[in-house]
Amino acid sequence: MGKDVIIACDFDSAEKTFAFLDKFTGRKPFVKIGMELYYAEGPSIVREIKKRGHKIFLDLKLHDIPNTVKKAMAVLSRLDVDMTNLHASGTIRMMEGALEGLTREDGTRPILIAVTQLTSTDQESMENDLMIHEPIDKVVMHYAHNAKVAGLDGVVCSPLEAGKVHETCGKDFVTVTPGVRFADGDIGDQKRVMTPAEAKKIGSDYIVVGRPITAAADPVAAYERCIAEFVD
Ligand code: C5P
Repeated sequence: MGKDVIIACDFDSAEKTFAFLDKFTGRKPFVKIGMELYYAEGPSIVREIKKRGHKIFLDLKLHDIPNTVKKAMAVLSRLDVDMTNLHASGTIRMMEGALEGLTREDGTRPILIAVTQLTSTDQESMENDLMIHEPIDKVVMHYAHNAKVAGLDGVVCSPLEAGKVHETCGKDFVTVTPGVRFADGDIGDQKRVMTPAEAKKIGSDYIVVGRPITAAADPVAAYERCIAEFVD
């Protein structure tokens, strides 16, 4: 799997997104479209960004009965995204359905990764709200293992978990890691962060970077800095 930097385009309109992407006149970044932008603009935003030559990670975190997820994934696959995701808590059967739906007639498909436990969930909320009483890191690795059993390509995880995920699921199992900050940057609301260089060292395959690039005075320079630290 090729290492790459994915920019989280957390904007609420196509206009703001294109004003941002217009700055990138050289290398076309891999971009992440999340719920906010997708629900604001619909599938046309995916087609337009794709037409501009960007790879797309469509971060919609599907979770429903296997048949519904399978059919939804078939639609997303026709949108020609490069990567998409779902919640591993939807069960192995749901993940298998997703994979089936995502696979195109010619056998190709986008990379499919799973969310294990959201990083906003901690041990206390997992026990009290979800009634899961195992240690959270064990739950994360179990869900990652389930994703692998279902045939998925990898998981979204904190950069701090990436090494352990590779140990548990193999080095080819993809780790996509948000929570990346520059050593001299503001960490904002992220709690457990790593620099792009550290994420590279620990073995992340893709880093997802939002505000350190989108809110930078010079987003292109910030992106190039991520590429230099993480990829080159
Ligand atoms: O701006 P920032 O770099 O914090 O953006 C990180 C992106 O990754 C956001 O789109 C956020 O929703 C996403 N994300 C995350 N932590 C997770 C899963 C996704 O920060 N565990």
